Amino acid sequence: MAFDLAALLAAHQGENFDLHAQFMNPELVKVLTTLGFDRYYVRAEGAYLIDDQGDRYLDFLSGFGVFALGRSHPVIKDALRQAIEADLPNLVQLDCALLPGLLAKELVDRAHPGIERVFFANSGAETVEAAIKFARCATSRKRILYCDHAFHGLTNGALSLNGGKEFKKGFGPLLPDCVQVPFGDIDALARHLRRDDVAAFVVEPIQGKGVYLASDGYWEAVQSLCRAHGTLLVIDEVQTGMGRTGRFFCHQHWGLEPDIITLSKALSGGYIPVGAVLTTATVFDAVFSSMERAVVHSSTFARNQLAMVAGLATLQVIDDEGIVERADKVGTRMMEALQPLVDKYELLREVRGKGLMIGLHFGPPESRGQRARFAMMELARKGLFSQLIVVPLFHRHRILTQVAADNVNIIKLLPPLTIGDEEIDAFVTALDDVLADATRGSGLLVEVGTSMVRNGLRRGRTRSTGSSRPGPDRS
Ligand SMILES: Cc1ncc(COP(=O)(O)O)c(C=O)c1O
Repeated sequence: MAFDLAALLAAHQGENFDLHAQFMNPELVKVLTTLGFDRYYVRAEGAYLIDDQGDRYLDFLSGFGVFALGRSHPVIKDALRQAIEADLPNLVQLDCALLPGLLAKELVDRAHPGIERVFFANSGAETVEAAIKFARCATSRKRILYCDHAFHGLTNGALSLNGGKEFKKGFGPLLPDCVQVPFGDIDALARHLRRDDVAAFVVEPIQGKGVYLASDGYWEAVQSLCRAHGTLLVIDEVQTGMGRTGRFFCHQHWGLEPDIITLSKALSGGYIPVGAVLTTATVFDAVFSSMERAVVHSSTFARNQLAMVAGLATLQVIDDEGIVERADKVGTRMMEALQPLVDKYELLREVRGKGLMIGLHFGPPESRGQRARFAMMELARKGLFSQLIVVPLFHRHRILTQVAADNVNIIKLLPPLTIGDEEIDAFVTALDDVLADATRGSGLLVEVGTSMVRNGLRRGRTRSTGSSRPGPDRS
C-alpha cells in the first residue's frame, strides 16, 4: 500500500499537542499552552507560518535561525527532489562521494586562506564536540576557555562550555579543564592564556543568548593573544554564519582568522540536519594523522547526500539572491526603523546587533508608576517582562519571537534574511502597539503576566517544567 502523507495528516489533524503530551515531552506542552503558543501549523512559506485556521504568522524566529532563506524555498525543494529522483548512492561509507567534496570546497572558498579542510557533522553541538576534540588533539593541551553567557549546544562536551547554570544543572560531571572567562574582557583572557596550556578559546562572535557584542579592540586582541600563546581560536558560527549578520561569517566583521570555524543551522536551507567544522590543515592533519587514524572521528549520517545537496543549493541561493548583502542592508534598515521606539519608550533600552541578528533590550523605566509595575513583574519572575512583549506580539499581531535567554529582558529577532519592508513595517508597528500598552499598564499585559504566573512559571514553583524558563528559549 502506498504511503499517503496527506491522508495521515488529515486523519490526525489537531492531535499534535495530545500526542506530544502522551508520548513525548508533556512539560513542553504545558509551557506552550501556558503561553498560548499551541497552534497547529499546517504550511510554511517564506517568512510565514500558516495554521489550520488559515491564519498567517510572521516568523521572526526562523527555527532558531535555520530558515535564513525563508521556509519552503523553491530552489532548495527542487534540489532535494532532484537528489531523491537521482537515486544517489547515499552513505556508502567506504567511499569518497562527490557531493561532500564539492560542498567542502565551496565552504573553504568562502573562508580565510588558512582554512583548508572540512569535517561534516549533523548538528551544531556535534560540530562543537568535534572542535573540542580536534583542539585538544592538535595542541596536546587539555584546557578549553569559553565565555559567560555562551551557548554551544547541549551534548556533554558542548554543555561543558555553556555560560549559564540552568542547562548544566543535574547533568554533571561535565568535561574537566573547561574554564569560563567573561565575554569581552581581554585582561581575563590574557591571564588564562599566560601559562601556555590552553588548547582553545571557543567563542561566538555575537552571543546568541542575549545578543551580546564585544568591542572591535577585543577581537583584535583575542586574535593576537591566541596566536602568541599557541591557543587555537575556535569561532562558533553555528547561529551567526551563512550571512545572518551581513557577512558570510560573522567573524569577517573583524577580519579574524580562526583556526576552527563551526557552522550548522542555515547550511542546509532548513531541510536536513547538517553541520560543518572548517579547520586549518595543521589542525585537521594532526587529528587524522595516519591511515590508522583516518576515521578516528566520524559520524554515520554526516556527509549524507541530501544534506550535501541542500547545502550546495543553499550556497547557490545565497549567491544568486545576494543574501549576505541583503542581510546587511535590511538589518541596518530594520535597526533604524526600531531606533525611534527607543526614544519613544523608556522600557526599550537598546536595539543592538548586526545584520538580521537583533536584540531588543528592555529595562525599568524612570517614571515611578511604570517603574513599580515593572518591578512587580520582575519580582514575580526575573525576565518576565520580555514575555509580556512576546506573548501579545504573537496573539495580537501573529508575530513569532523569542526571549533571548533565561532571566533577562531581551528579545532576540532572527527573521529570515529574505524579509523586506512589509515585514519590517509590520514588526515595528506591532512592537509600537505592544509597548504603548505596556507603558499604559493596560489590562492585557497584566492579564498575560498574571495568567503565566498562575500557571506555575514563577521561579521556585517550577517542578512542572523542570526549569525556571518561561518559554522555549534554548537557542
Ligand atoms: C552558537 C551555537 N552553537 C551551537 C549550537 C548548538 O546547535 P544544535 O542545537 O544544532 O546542536 C547552537 C544552537 O543554538 C548555537 O547557537
